[in-house]
Amino acid sequence: MNNGQMTELLHEPQPTPLALLLLGQAADPASERGVECPGGLPAASDPDLVDRAAAAKAALGDRLFILGHHYQRNEVIQFADVTGDSFKLAQQAAAHPVAEFIVFCGVHFMAESADILTADNQQVILPDLAAGCSMADMANIVQVEQCWDDLAAAGIAAVTIPITYMNSTAAIKAFTGRHGGSVCTSSNAERSMQWAFEQGEKVLFLPDQHLGRNTAVRELGLSLVDCVVFDPRKPSGGLTTEQLHAAKVILWKGHCSVHGRFTADCVDDVRNRIPGVSVIVHPECTYEVVTKADFVGSTEKIISTIAAAPSGSAWAIGTELNLVKRLAQDNPDKTIAYLDKSVCFCSTMNRIDLPHLVWVLESLVAGQVVNRIEVDPETAKWAKVSLDRMLALPGPIATAD
Ligand code: 13P
Ligand code: SF4
Repeated sequence: MNNGQMTELLHEPQPTPLALLLLGQAADPASERGVECPGGLPAASDPDLVDRAAAAKAALGDRLFILGHHYQRNEVIQFADVTGDSFKLAQQAAAHPVAEFIVFCGVHFMAESADILTADNQQVILPDLAAGCSMADMANIVQVEQCWDDLAAAGIAAVTIPITYMNSTAAIKAFTGRHGGSVCTSSNAERSMQWAFEQGEKVLFLPDQHLGRNTAVRELGLSLVDCVVFDPRKPSGGLTTEQLHAAKVILWKGHCSVHGRFTADCVDDVRNRIPGVSVIVHPECTYEVVTKADFVGSTEKIISTIAAAPSGSAWAIGTELNLVKRLAQDNPDKTIAYLDKSVCFCSTMNRIDLPHLVWVLESLVAGQVVNRIEVDPETAKWAKVSLDRMLALPGPIATAD
C-alpha cells in the first residue's frame, strides 16, 4: 500500500458527528450525563492539582474518607485512605461511621452500595456521575421483574434464590433482598452460591454470566449443562419451561466489556511469548479463558498472589490495566505482562481523574456537596438486606486457584 492509499484509509471521507465524538473532537452534552461541573472543573494541565487535592483533603480532615477501587488511576489512588476491591470497599464504607463525606473513587454501583451501608448523616460522593459500569447496565429492574414473572410462570420462582453481583443497581439489590437472596462480589461468589443452594434448589445469578458459570462449575462442581443463559431481550429469556426446570443455575446474559476482551488465544500467545509464565485472571473472564489460566481470583486475590510470588517469576494478568500497571510498578523483581496485546482500561473507572477529585474536594471545603449519590429509603432498606446477607457470610473465600 502506498502513502496515498494509507492516508485515504486513515481519513474519514465524510466526517460525521459520531466520528468526531469518537476522536474526542466534540462533545454531545445530551448523552454526557453528569459531566457538567458547577463552579468549573480544573484544567488537567494545571500543575498545582496534586497540591490542591492535598490541601483540600487536609482542610477536611476527619470529616472526609476517600475510598479507592484498585482499577482507579494512580493520580487518584494516591489520595485514597483505603484501597480495595468492591467487597473490601463495601466493608470499609460500613466501618467508618464518623466521616461526614465519603468520596468514592470507583463506579456508580459501588457508591450506591456505600450510601446504603453508611448512616443517614453521611454523604457519599462520586467525583464523576458518568462513571457507570457497562455490565451493571446490562440488567435493569424492569427486565429482572419480568424474568421473575417468567420463572413464576414456569413454576420455579418459589425454589429459586437470586444472587446479584455487586455490579448491579441498588434497585436490583433491593429486588434480591425482597426475594430472599444475597449480593456477592468476586471475593465471595463461591460462598454466596453455596449459601443460596442451602436456601433453595436453584440460583438466578445476575448480571455476569461468566462469574456465575465459573463459580457454579469450577467451584461448586456443577456441570456446564446445569447452567442456562437467560436473555432478557427474548421472550421467556429464550428458554423453554423444560430448560428452566432442568437448570440448577439460571445465568443472566451480561458480561464485562473489559474482561470479555481476553480470549483463549491471548493465553496461548502469552505462553509462547514468555516461557514459564503463569497466567492469572479475574473470574469475570469467560469459562474458556479461566480454564486455560493457571490461577483465577478477585482483584484482592490477584494482588496477594503476585505479592507472594517468588522473585524472578513471570506473570500474565487478565484484569483491568490500571491495576496491572500498578502491580508491575510494585513488583519490579517480577516480570508482569498484560494478558491482551492491545491494552484496555475500564473507561468508566478512568473517568475519575485528578481534576474531578480536586473539584469535589474543593467544593466540599467551600461548603458545597456536589455529585451526591443517594438511594431512596425504600430501595435502600431492601438492598441493605441483601448486602447485609453478604457481609454476614463467613469469608471472604477467594474464587479458587
Ligand atoms: P472486584 O469485585 O474484584 O473489585 O471487581 C469489581 C469489578 O468491577 C471488576 O470488573
Ligand atoms: Fe464494570 Fe467491567 Fe469496568 Fe468492572 S471492569 S466496572 S465490570 S465495566
